[in-house]
Amino acid sequence: MSIGISDDGKLFTIDTENTSYQMKVTSQGHLIHTHYGRRIYGDASINLERKDRGFSQNPTPEKKLRDYSIDYLPLELSGFGSGDYRTSAVTIMNGDGSTCFNPVFEGYELKKGKYSIEGLPAFATDNAETLVITLVDKASQVRARLFYSFLQEKDIITRALEIENDGDKDIRILKAMSTSFDIAYGDYDLISFPGRHCYERVENREHVSWGCKRLGSTRGYSSHQMNPAFILAERNTDEENGEAIACALVYSGSFVAEVEKSQYGSFRVQIGINDEAFSYPLAPGECFRGPEAILSFSAEGLDRLSYNLHMAARENLIREIPDRKHRPVLINSWEGCYFDFSAQNIIDLARDAKTLGADMVVMDDGWFGKRDDDFSGLGDWYVNEKKLKMTLGEMVERINKEGIRFGIWFEPEMVCEDSDLYRAHPDWALTVPGRTPSYGRSQLVLDFSRKEVRDNIFEQMSRIMDSANIEYIKWDANRHISEFFSRGAEDQGTTGYRYMLGLYEFLEKFKNRYPGVILEGCSGGGGRFDYGMLHYFPFIWTSDNTDPIDRLSIQRGTSFFYPPETMGCHVSASPNHQDGRETPFFTRCATALTGTFGYELVPSRLSDEERSIMKWANEYNRSNWEIISKGRYHRLSDPEQDDYYAWMIVANDGSKAILHTVSKTNHGNNRSVSIRLRGLDEKAWYRIGENVVSGSVLMYSGMLIPDRKGCYEAGIFIIEKVE
Ligand code: GLA
Repeated sequence: MSIGISDDGKLFTIDTENTSYQMKVTSQGHLIHTHYGRRIYGDASINLERKDRGFSQNPTPEKKLRDYSIDYLPLELSGFGSGDYRTSAVTIMNGDGSTCFNPVFEGYELKKGKYSIEGLPAFATDNAETLVITLVDKASQVRARLFYSFLQEKDIITRALEIENDGDKDIRILKAMSTSFDIAYGDYDLISFPGRHCYERVENREHVSWGCKRLGSTRGYSSHQMNPAFILAERNTDEENGEAIACALVYSGSFVAEVEKSQYGSFRVQIGINDEAFSYPLAPGECFRGPEAILSFSAEGLDRLSYNLHMAARENLIREIPDRKHRPVLINSWEGCYFDFSAQNIIDLARDAKTLGADMVVMDDGWFGKRDDDFSGLGDWYVNEKKLKMTLGEMVERINKEGIRFGIWFEPEMVCEDSDLYRAHPDWALTVPGRTPSYGRSQLVLDFSRKEVRDNIFEQMSRIMDSANIEYIKWDANRHISEFFSRGAEDQGTTGYRYMLGLYEFLEKFKNRYPGVILEGCSGGGGRFDYGMLHYFPFIWTSDNTDPIDRLSIQRGTSFFYPPETMGCHVSASPNHQDGRETPFFTRCATALTGTFGYELVPSRLSDEERSIMKWANEYNRSNWEIISKGRYHRLSDPEQDDYYAWMIVANDGSKAILHTVSKTNHGNNRSVSIRLRGLDEKAWYRIGENVVSGSVLMYSGMLIPDRKGCYEAGIFIIEKVE
């Protein structure tokens, strides 16, 4: 049994392989958080001191409870308006207009198997239990149900929240954090992953000081600007040493994460749906279900934390796809052709793909409706045969005849005002009557919370899918939501949440109808790179920025929570189209090769040397796919701080590793660079090129990186165990 409950039913301990998560019911019925960290045996509440603290409210006027206050106790689910002044986990507007919510323990249930959440993606396992703890606000009879489960070997705790109105008045949920707990003691750094379009998820580490730090997105999507995932690390924690807790939301809409250092130095840690632009009405008898949050703890630094998260995403979240063995290496038409192509150009790409050992071509934006630029056409999913100069079926047949597979781009959630769909159904866009909408890339967002909208798009997409042998879809979403107003809803406080439920339902239906089709996620690059999306899309276009040097920081930041094969990584032209930087072809390959690999260029424009590197690279990605998609990823340096970057992936049986290095700058009379490798067998011997070196030397002494001759030089090293 991994969930331990004391005989009196008041102490709950969830154990994973190396961690314990513990809660206890107090004498006054509050559920407190007593421990999350290394495995413990016994009750950790012994550490909590009770004191009469000024200006911290007590539950009764009696003297004996002067030392009891939820204002300083470490809580497992905080309410509002009952004496806890820290940021709340749940805020309710009651039927009488008050906003008090004082959740106390009512009971628990232990169930076989891991819970699932209707309509929302979640981690899954056959090998777990679920602990459901029910808390009630006695005056309003509103209940909060906390669902806990775990992934044993991956040291992951999952949690979800349900709120049920068992009172007799209508209420409104104003805030509902999926996970929330207080850490009584410590000194922490917060590691978050902020960014912007074309520079997503770059690691940001800061000391947590007094007050409440809020990270989040109100953009309707998880966003480029902040990822729904963060780490709380002890101050001296680094890649290999020290304690750290990871927290992430399995959701792709607006979210908020809060870390508050309270007056007595405790920390409140929480994540959930963003409470701005969220207010959820709940009639008597109704229930609200929030998205899942996951936690992981490591006492062996950030490297181990990432490993836990990577393995959980791989084995418990991402849906199996037929190409798990090896993702097709593809050539995408975007940066090579933009809107300017006919079917012949795509067929030419396929011919090149064949000669160069790639597997697929993907026809990006521009093939449908009236779409020669990004001002019109979204919403009209019929083939522009005038532009292609042939039918889609015929084009795909000719591509397939070359021995190359075919993929296509869609942006299903969007509409341009200049489209037949918008002209027929202007009310299907998320806009507010009487108010000028705001535009992103000259487009509006379709109201995916409405079934008739989803059905129309589904039908249009199916017609395309059924007309040709389409084996792959790149699913884009190129703006954020601003006007959260659905003409199909009476209450607008739920629009963002119901949009997401609609999107997930669509994806579920699409996956069932086209189970063999590979789905690539995208939102202007990595604008929706989250665990919610990964459930449906096994990989996501990491960023619209394909400059390999910027990509070092982007991919490194992404790697904290997401495994390498979930990152779509393509080689593009030089000078780079986003920032004009010139880099060697090999360096562009070295940066992209440890992800789901491909190209954004026209190969016929490459030199012979580049084409032969391309052939080699395709084979390299294929032959190392097992390591890339299943192995353990190690960040060996930080491109924001060091003038080179190195990362490696080690096969799970330790027999082989690949090491990639890229230098960011170059100097006259360079300092030598030696990198300490990780994850090898210290007693084994490894062959690297001509040399045979012991694992212990490579890991504890280091490996000398050959001298750089120019800027942006890359190295790829294969490290194989010698029998
Ligand atoms: C987004 C994507 C790009 C490309 C364009 C097409 O920006 O991230 O890769 O598909 O849309 O319009």
